[in-house]
Formats: sequence, C-alpha cells, structure tokens
Amino acid sequence: MSRVHDALRRAEQTGYLRTKGEPATDTPAPPYTDSPLLANLLEQIAEVPFNPSPDAHLLDATKPHDAPSEEFRAFRTRINHMQGLHQLHSLVVTSPSPAEGKSFTAVNLALAEAHLAGNPTLLADFDFRRPVVHRMFQIDRGPGASDYLEGKAPLCKVIKKIAGSNLYVMPAGEAVINPLELLNLREAKQLLDELPRLFNWVIMDSPPLLFAADANLLSTITDGSVLVVRVGITTIDSVTRAVQSLCENNLIGILVNGAERRELYSKYTYYHNYYYEARPAAGTHTEAAADQAAEGDKQASAPPATGDKPPEAQQS
Ligand SMILES: Nc1ncnc2c1ncn2[C@@H]1O[C@H](COP(=O)(O)OP(=O)(O)OP(=O)(O)O)[C@@H](O)[C@H]1O
Ligand SMILES: [Mg+2]
Repeated sequence: MSRVHDALRRAEQTGYLRTKGEPATDTPAPPYTDSPLLANLLEQIAEVPFNPSPDAHLLDATKPHDAPSEEFRAFRTRINHMQGLHQLHSLVVTSPSPAEGKSFTAVNLALAEAHLAGNPTLLADFDFRRPVVHRMFQIDRGPGASDYLEGKAPLCKVIKKIAGSNLYVMPAGEAVINPLELLNLREAKQLLDELPRLFNWVIMDSPPLLFAADANLLSTITDGSVLVVRVGITTIDSVTRAVQSLCENNLIGILVNGAERRELYSKYTYYHNYYYEARPAAGTHTEAAADQAAEGDKQASAPPATGDKPPEAQQS
C-alpha cells in the first residue's frame, strides 16, 4: 500500500487537492435549518436491509483479513487522513475505460468507510449510463439521482439507509437520455455542495472517462477523483490520457485493481509472512494502490498500514 500512500502524499504536495477550508471535525451535525435541502432529511429516509447480490463482490465485514478488506481499509485510512488536512468529502470514482472496477471500488470504499463508527457515508450512483449499484444492493433503481435532478422525486425519497449501518445509498434512478445535461444542472452542483454537510463521505460511481464526459464534469463539482485502473486491462496510453483529462480536477490518486497479493509483497517477504502466513489464504482480488501511474512508479511496495486505523464498529 505504500504506493497508495506515496501517490496520495504527492497529490497533497503537488496541490492536486484543493484546500478549501477548515479540517473535518467530530462535532455533532447541525440541524441544517439554513438548508431546505438537508433539514430533517435523515429522519425521512427509509431503511432497507443489507442484502447484497452474491455476485457483487462486496467486502465481507465478517472476514476483515481478506485481501480486499485489508486493502480497502488501508486506502480508507489514507484518504481519511487526507480529509483531516483538506476539505475532502466528496469523491468521484472513475476509470479510463469500461469494466475496470469503478463500481466495485466505489461500493467497497463506501462500505469500508461506513464500517467506521460515526462516519455517515453516502454512496451515490452517478453512472446514469450503466448503473449497477442498485443491483449490487438488490434495491430498486428508482427513484434515484436522475429523478431528483429532474425534479420528479424529493431528496428524501431517492436515498435509502442500509439498516444497522452508517451507509446510505442513492441509486441512479430511472434511465435518462441526456445524462450530461442532468449533471450540468445547477441542482447537481447544489446537491454536491450540500450533501457533504450531512455525510462525512459522498462517494460517487461514474462512467468511464474516455467514453463520456460525465466523470470529468463530476470531478469539477466534487472535492476529489480516484482513478481506477485494472491490471491486464487498462493500457498505459489510456491511463495517460485519463490523467491528463483529470489533473486539474483534484485527482487524488490511482487505484490499481486486480493485482495479485504476491505482486504487492514479494519484496517484503518478512512482512508478508508476519502479517499473512498464519492466516488461511484469502482470495486476492484487489491491490488498492493509488499512484500516479503515468509516472510509471512500479517500485514501491510495503506492508499495509495497520497502526493508524481508526477504531471500527463492524456493521452491516
Ligand atoms: N478486484 C476484483 N476482483 C473480482 N472481481 C472484480 C474486481 N474488480 C471488478 N470485478 C468484477 O468485474 C466486473 C466489472 O467491474 P465493475 O462493474 O466494477 O466495473 P466498472 O468499471 O464499474 O464497469 P462499467 O464501465 O461497466 O461501469 C464486475 O463483475 C465486478 O464484480
Ligand atoms: Mg460501473
């Protein structure tokens, strides 16, 4: 995960991250009487049971030592640290091309965040072209984000709370023929400006960068972007073009999806053994390594950060 750390640290140093205001605090949420959008919103949101689709590859809270769980927790630790330094509450998860793991990453990062006590997290499906978040949680697709933006449903109806957890889900909503026009609406910017006052994290799934302008537009109205690349699928050329298209819009890191664990730890045998050998082999799906891949940094690899994890409340 050192690549995650290195890349995110570089993003901080090079100013990819906006510093918009004061760091996050643990103070209780205000009543939002000044915001018609947020006032009493949480009380009006309906709960749904946590009922993930078996093929969704969601983190299993009962198996915290599985490789994806470890990697997503380490990634979470790092971005939470960044949140303490910068105004970073809304993130768009994107990738250069289709099927590289954007939805997989957005959903699992949101789950990892929501496992923390006192960390209300909203997962919003802003991929109006190929939405899958509703299927992963086996909830209705609508009403959702598109319905809210089109003025067809109030905000409280388009967000669902996952029972017994800190996780809130906004599915994509009914199909629209003009996703880009929806995202250009003043309501979209206002929504993304206001939601982080209520949710510590707003994590958005989005379409691929090189196939539609949606994610690029979203990155201009959110605090940061995470670029997912998938081992064996994403090409250097597409990463380069994607980074170039995002670099002015708060690219906070690149997450390498699909690496084998042995690729991660081969140079650190002692730590690999120390951390993992005593445990049964876990399915290794994800190397959550954020990096400025365009720089071709293939060197660093280190044991996952374990000492800086915030206290956890296992939920859902
Ligand atoms: N690390 C992984 N391990 C196992 N399966 C994965 C992993 N990452 C993604 N997948 C699977 O690969 C498929 C594509 O992933 P996903 O839907 O997240 O991609 P996407 O980038 O969101 O695609 P799209 O461009 O269509 O929105 C899904 O079936 C997902 O479960
Ligand atoms: Mg997707």
